[in-house]
Amino acid sequence: MQIYKAHILFTEHSDRFEVFENGYLAVDNGIVKGVYKTLPESLRNEHVTDFGDKLLIPAMCDMHVHAPQYRNQGIAMDLELLPWLDNYTFPEESKYRDIKYAERMYRRFVRDVWRFGTMRTVAFATIHKDSTRLLMNLFNEAGMGALVGKVDMNRNSPDTLTETVEDAVRDNEELIAEFNHDGALVRPIITPRFVPSCTPEMLTACGELAKRHNLHVQSHLSENTGEIAWVSELEPDSANYGDAYNKYGLFGQTPTIMAHCVWTDGEELQLMKRNGVMVAHCPTSNFNLSSGMAPIRRFLNEGIPVGLGSDISGGHDLSIFRMMVYAIQVSKMQYQKDKSKAFLTLPEAFWIATKSAGRFFGKVGSFEPGYEFDALVIDDSQLNHDNYSLLHRIERFVYLGDDRNIVHRFCRGKEIAEPKI
Ligand code: GUN
Ligand code: FE
Repeated sequence: MQIYKAHILFTEHSDRFEVFENGYLAVDNGIVKGVYKTLPESLRNEHVTDFGDKLLIPAMCDMHVHAPQYRNQGIAMDLELLPWLDNYTFPEESKYRDIKYAERMYRRFVRDVWRFGTMRTVAFATIHKDSTRLLMNLFNEAGMGALVGKVDMNRNSPDTLTETVEDAVRDNEELIAEFNHDGALVRPIITPRFVPSCTPEMLTACGELAKRHNLHVQSHLSENTGEIAWVSELEPDSANYGDAYNKYGLFGQTPTIMAHCVWTDGEELQLMKRNGVMVAHCPTSNFNLSSGMAPIRRFLNEGIPVGLGSDISGGHDLSIFRMMVYAIQVSKMQYQKDKSKAFLTLPEAFWIATKSAGRFFGKVGSFEPGYEFDALVIDDSQLNHDNYSLLHRIERFVYLGDDRNIVHRFCRGKEIAEPKI
């Protein structure tokens, strides 16, 4: 049993923080046993790790990120999605055939995910099996949780990023056999890039893989108006973009997350709701690629699960704390257009990034009993120069803090050291 003492904050509910000033948190075998204002009699003999005046909060979940776009972070934001893919993204991803290049970039990527306090990641790799395996091994070595997808694509892509359906299935099967074990921290996720990159045969094969191995699925949905028009040409028999995935068993038949959903509405939205498909909301990517503003309030009102994603390199920022700020800001732009759409509050954004997102991994993202202990210790002393309340301290950290304030990181109960690059 481990006992931690600190100012403990988390969002069991979306409308408020639970706050335990100088509270205690008990962890047994990586699982939260309880959070207490005073230490119960039965735990008085246990060793207490005292974090003093620091904050103890759940670690972050990044629900959508392209690890092989790491070199392009913060550059090439002058185009919309489709020409951006052709001109900047596909050439960069093509380099990951070279395992040495992949190792150099992926080590930095994993180290920086660690820096920003993200202990669970849902990542796209590339079509390349060997560099995908490398990325999975790096997450495993670090001790950080991840669902990592070998990307599947076989049309409208350069030759360097085009594979046959048979090759894609064989490579997926190999990674599945290697990594898909009960309780594994790093697991495969079926990853058709998006409908324009995958023929009906490829989408069918992906749906079958997900079903056969009961695997999670990730892709992109309704991000950009040009993309959506193209999908309706490519899939004339589908009622909408989401319905195209649904036909192939890639839309909630197993746990599914779709990035963006900027233009999701009507039948597509109802289908997501019925099928329990999660949205990865990526506000910085949606700004940078001029994609639009996703209807997050609507998704929340409908009970559609939502998490936050950095979407490097469409997005430029790996910090999920900063992603909360962007999500709040974009909701305020929408509120100005329609006052019936209440903007997000900080507890709501925090809940989306932790407990709401964390359900994709199991019991992750909260400090309620039974949750995996994924946590960060925040030293905000340089931000707390005038006796702020704990609620103002967490707000200032989210808005003003950075990786330098994160002084300990835990995933499944284990303290995670800085990964070597
Ligand atoms: N749609 C298909 N591929 C991508 C990608 O790499 N990034 C984003 N933002 N959207 C995509
Ligand atoms: Fe993406």
